[in-house]
Amino acid sequence: MASHERFADKMDLPPTTEQPNIFPLSWNARTTKMEEVWDAAQREVWDPKKLPWDTFNPDSYSWEEREAIAYWWTILSVFDASAPPVFAEALIKTYEVHEEDPVRRCFFSVTRDEQNHEQLCGLAITKLLAHPDPLTYQPKTELGAKAQRNTRWLYFNGARYWTGYKKAVPKYSLAVLFSSFLMGEIAAATIFHQMAAGAREQVFKQAFRNVGRDEGRHMAICMALMERDYPKLAVDDRPLITKQIRAGYLFLSGVLFEPPPEFWDLPADFIAVQRRCDEVSRKAGFHIPPYEAKKENWRNAMLNLKGVLDRYNIPFPAIPEVGITGQEVRDIDMADIIPVF
Ligand SMILES: [Fe+2]
Ligand SMILES: [Fe+2]
Repeated sequence: MASHERFADKMDLPPTTEQPNIFPLSWNARTTKMEEVWDAAQREVWDPKKLPWDTFNPDSYSWEEREAIAYWWTILSVFDASAPPVFAEALIKTYEVHEEDPVRRCFFSVTRDEQNHEQLCGLAITKLLAHPDPLTYQPKTELGAKAQRNTRWLYFNGARYWTGYKKAVPKYSLAVLFSSFLMGEIAAATIFHQMAAGAREQVFKQAFRNVGRDEGRHMAICMALMERDYPKLAVDDRPLITKQIRAGYLFLSGVLFEPPPEFWDLPADFIAVQRRCDEVSRKAGFHIPPYEAKKENWRNAMLNLKGVLDRYNIPFPAIPEVGITGQEVRDIDMADIIPVF
């Protein structure tokens, strides 16, 4: 077998290693911004278990309130529980393509952060429902049962992208893969800061503050990557990015705004149920930004990203849902979508 062929007795130096191979043996550092973000990530590391959970008593809420708040955490989980494998895959890619050392570390930090966010969702849901899994939980109220039906549909939709993502990773450059990521990070950072400001429970206030800070760093990583790679972007990649932004809008609206039917395959009463859960949560002191605030935040995130793309002459897609004009993007194929959060 070729793999057992011995070389060392035939030549002085070994044959060249075929590329891409999994590991670089180099620690090049060109993007100083990435080094700064990594340092911040090391300083700001936190442990979800060490949040002041002892100040939180789920029994002080009604079952309907507990189920409604757990539903919000469940929506977040649909994104945050898929983020660790998404970034782990991207981390592997940074090694395969022999990315700079600080870039590899930054992707490592995002993987770790997203793992923390996932743990946080799990802790919150387990305490609220007194059960570790929103899918097998026995609902106690009518709203809880409807929320669980929504959860089943969210899970079904969220699960569909993994195969597409895995196929996309080797095909595209990091700059293309993460083009819609920035918009998600901008919007997420803002939403978590708003939720921290409005939270009544200490434990949630601190959690949201930490998550918001993490998302802010992810945003900085994405910006640094774009600033490094977009000036030398192949012309062929431009339409792909435009499409990717539109897909990112559709996908991420599921958590940052409301899921558009064009992409999300959901029952007719889905949004009504979600709005009722939001309402009950708000009344119980769990601050979820209202519809208009979510929309405004989402729109601002997109205008921010548009500002970046304009600098590099990459056309921005039309997002009529939030009043942004641009290039019309139709027929988004599920297989083309690279979901990132
Ligand atoms: Fe996250
Ligand atoms: Fe993130």
